[in-house]
Amino acid sequence: MDQLTIKKIGVLTSGGDAPGMNAAIRAVVRAAFYYNLEAFGIYRGYEGMINNDIRKLDSRSIAHVLERGGTFLKSARSEEFKTPEGRKKAYENLKSHGIDALVVIGGDGSLTGAHLFFKEYGIPAVGLPGTIDNDLFGTDLTIGFDTACNTAIQAIDKIRDTATSHDRLFFIEVMGRDAGFIAINAGIGSAAAAILIPEKKMPVEKLIERLKTREKAKKESNIVIVAEGGKSGGAAEIAEKVKKILPTYDIKVTILGHLQRGGAPSAFDRTLASKLGVSAVEGLLHGKYDVMVGVINNKVVFTPIKRAIVDDKKVDEEELRIAGILST
Ligand code: F6P
Repeated sequence: MDQLTIKKIGVLTSGGDAPGMNAAIRAVVRAAFYYNLEAFGIYRGYEGMINNDIRKLDSRSIAHVLERGGTFLKSARSEEFKTPEGRKKAYENLKSHGIDALVVIGGDGSLTGAHLFFKEYGIPAVGLPGTIDNDLFGTDLTIGFDTACNTAIQAIDKIRDTATSHDRLFFIEVMGRDAGFIAINAGIGSAAAAILIPEKKMPVEKLIERLKTREKAKKESNIVIVAEGGKSGGAAEIAEKVKKILPTYDIKVTILGHLQRGGAPSAFDRTLASKLGVSAVEGLLHGKYDVMVGVINNKVVFTPIKRAIVDDKKVDEEELRIAGILST
């Protein structure tokens, strides 16, 4: 596609919110003003595009948002945008505002929407990886992952105190639909006895063996981190299986859930989001369309959205090996 003249950029957040999304929106809007473009906020993701919930942003609208969790543009998972009729409505609304390019901040579902929209209507779009799950190819880390891991570790530290006081075994479920990144990071950072992730199956026998070894080593507490959607089942399911084999163990289950999505973004997430937000606008101005902007080895990299959503981001085998050594 030839390079277009872009004057009005629409920005939206979509899918599960992630700490750092506000910092990303702010960077997009600030960069747009720097390059003399107009910026429009599209509220509630693709739902807002369909319902024409679109407002022009000025510099006041992004004041004091950098440090806030959530997304002031709000977010949604839109079923209607998956239909050609929904996307047609969205296109007509964008045109009525004269919006000629988009920055979409979200996970793989949100980027899939941007890709489809570009294919059908030729609206240039750059995606920003915004998800706590860190499951997007084309960036070492996604916006929100670092904060979510820190939040999980702080919560697990607190559970460790009570687990040690009562000599208990805790199964703690962390988020990460189909992806074990949070579990591995939080597991290493909280000295977990074992980490169960969707990408690798750990037979219950192996887990029992690990717990017995730790009992011999007189460990006072055991924390097992379970990624939601893990192949071996959720934390409650695994706890039940273990209880049947080790009936004398005092077992508890905690699901950290949505608390992992909230809170002020970490320094790392603020910086990452700011860097990516500015790069997205510059990418659009340089004719980079239908791409996701990420950071790999500390360099800003543009990856075709198609690759970012289809290619698998692999968990780090080295981290898993290290976690194995540290948990014995
Ligand atoms: O994609 C981010 C995420 O937090 C996943 O880890 C989790 O499975 C999912 O969103 C939960 O989504 P919802 O808030 O819509 O239930």
